[in-house]
Amino acid sequence: MQTVYDLAGLRAVLRAWRQQGQRVALVPTMGNLHAGHHALVRRAQQCAPRVVASVFVNPAQFGPGEDYARYPRTLQQDQAGLAALGCDLLFAPPVEVMYPHGVAASVSVHVPELTAMLEGVHRPGHFDGVATVVTKLFAMVQPDDAVFGEKDWQQLQVVRRLVRDLGLPVQIVALPTVREPDGLAVSSRNQYLDPAQRALAPRLYTTLQWMRRQALAGHVHEAIERAAVAGLARMGFEPDYCAIRAVETLQPAAGEPPHRLIALAAARLGGTRLIDNLPFTA
Ligand code: PAJ
Repeated sequence: MQTVYDLAGLRAVLRAWRQQGQRVALVPTMGNLHAGHHALVRRAQQCAPRVVASVFVNPAQFGPGEDYARYPRTLQQDQAGLAALGCDLLFAPPVEVMYPHGVAASVSVHVPELTAMLEGVHRPGHFDGVATVVTKLFAMVQPDDAVFGEKDWQQLQVVRRLVRDLGLPVQIVALPTVREPDGLAVSSRNQYLDPAQRALAPRLYTTLQWMRRQALAGHVHEAIERAAVAGLARMGFEPDYCAIRAVETLQPAAGEPPHRLIALAAARLGGTRLIDNLPFTA
């Protein structure tokens, strides 16, 4: 597997593939690749004969107090893992390639409505950073398909919305969340957890399962959300939100059932922020 770090290198490889008429799938990541990312690459290989993975820790999507500086950077390990999977190309640009005029002076992409709620309330500016870097990656790679994890459900909806709104010729493919045997969603941030926090962490997912049961039993969503937040706090989490929403708009469910719903939660354990979700029909 080849690794390219700049646009000239990227374009040379893509041009050769395009001349052979080959479809290209992209898997955007911030690196420190784990089983979840590897599953995205395998999904991408089902979409297209050529798969590009990108590794870029995007400064624009981290807030001032967040973990940009300490976010794990493990490029050699990532390269080895991708090569073993049979990934065709790794695009690992430095910040100057993605933001030639600096982050603050960059063209940026803002997706309204979807970004003001849930994660957007607790991470102001985060989704502008995500939408901007994903649009740049789509412009640079021009993939036919791009694969994203359902783990970051709100991010997936933001990406779908920007693709529709900008009329981009890319098909967005979603992959269900890959979990540890105890139910914890696999995440690069899990390695920040100490053993006691790691033992508690799967209860974020069991809380989502409890929320689903309560919703299926017909309880009022607001009451379920309040009880879930209180329950997480009693266990030792610092919850940011627990919410039951419509899967696509992320608005509270309205109208007659059946509803395609999703339970979403974000909570901190010490300095580590965990998010998870569980889609269901009620
Ligand atoms: P990152 O957190 O590295 O995640 C890259 C992709 O992997 C995302 O689509 C994410 O949803 C998916 N992913 C992470 N954990 C997963 C799991 N347990 N199961 C399935 N998929 C999982 O998300 C980002 O990077 C960035 O915001 C990015 C889109 C690359 C833009 O910078």
